[in-house]
Amino acid sequence: MQSKSATRHFLDISAIDAKTLRRIVDNAHAMKKAGKRVPAGLRPKGIEDCVLVMIFEKPSTRTRVSFDIAMRQLGGGALSLNHTDLQLGRGESVADTARVLSRYADAIMIRANAHDTLVELAKHASIPVVNGLTDKSHPCQVMADVMTFEEHSGPIKGRTVAWIGDGNNVAVSWMHAAARFGFTLRLACPSALHPEDEAMEWARREKAAITLTTDPEKAVKGADCVVTDTWVSMGQSDAAKRKKILAPYAVDQKLMSKAAKSAIFMHCLPAYRGHEVSSEVLEGPQSVIWDEAENRLHAQKAILAWCLGG
Ligand code: CP
Ligand code: NVA
Repeated sequence: MQSKSATRHFLDISAIDAKTLRRIVDNAHAMKKAGKRVPAGLRPKGIEDCVLVMIFEKPSTRTRVSFDIAMRQLGGGALSLNHTDLQLGRGESVADTARVLSRYADAIMIRANAHDTLVELAKHASIPVVNGLTDKSHPCQVMADVMTFEEHSGPIKGRTVAWIGDGNNVAVSWMHAAARFGFTLRLACPSALHPEDEAMEWARREKAAITLTTDPEKAVKGADCVVTDTWVSMGQSDAAKRKKILAPYAVDQKLMSKAAKSAIFMHCLPAYRGHEVSSEVLEGPQSVIWDEAENRLHAQKAILAWCLGG
């Protein structure tokens, strides 16, 4: 069993140093090249005996399937559980769940309603804990996004990404990535839906190249990449209000035409055509969304290899 201090949790991009993150993305590219059977050099020692337990408090297609298959391709196993299948769903504490699962499994991935649940789990687990999305961030997604950017457009350092729409959990992980990977992030969000103050203050402290505007065209002008996400995230109830506020932030061909000629379009999916993005953009030649979805698998392998290789 790993000692507690050496436990490699993957909780947020902001919690990990730039060199380590760079290595994980490089390994993700290598994992993709290697194909289904990850070679010994990229696999953590003893992975054949390792099992990842996944806990879902919210639905998931990509995260659930890519983590499961990532573990299989690395040579280990995985178990996917909805929280209502666990005693967690009827009041067993997160701390006790963490201690019990640490006796069976080798890593835990959780998709949690509240970020505090993730933090509490990591505090009490003696095995690595991975953030599979919370209300505050979605770091594994953005690791795959950085990988996807580089696959299509070369090194991300010094480049410009425009985030259009809700200042949500995915936007916050993009902010963390801008600081750690050294690119410019221009956020265009309505003032009622800016990223949380905590993330903005963190970015200021880190001296990240992040700007915030309410004007999508200003953010997109000359950008190398345009990104958006759903207007209504899982667990949010004010759908009608959000759709109204976010209507001017829809990404369509007219907005894409303000970006660099070579700009790519990304979306973590699921996408809602005709809302945050037009079908024309989503299915158009600048869209790299299917590569982005595939790259969740390769990024997951690299993240797990880092967590389990400690
Ligand atoms: N992008 C993403 O995390 O997708 P799922 O909700 O399907 O896991
Ligand atoms: N912001 C979205 C991302 C889904 C992968 C949500 O939290 O629902």
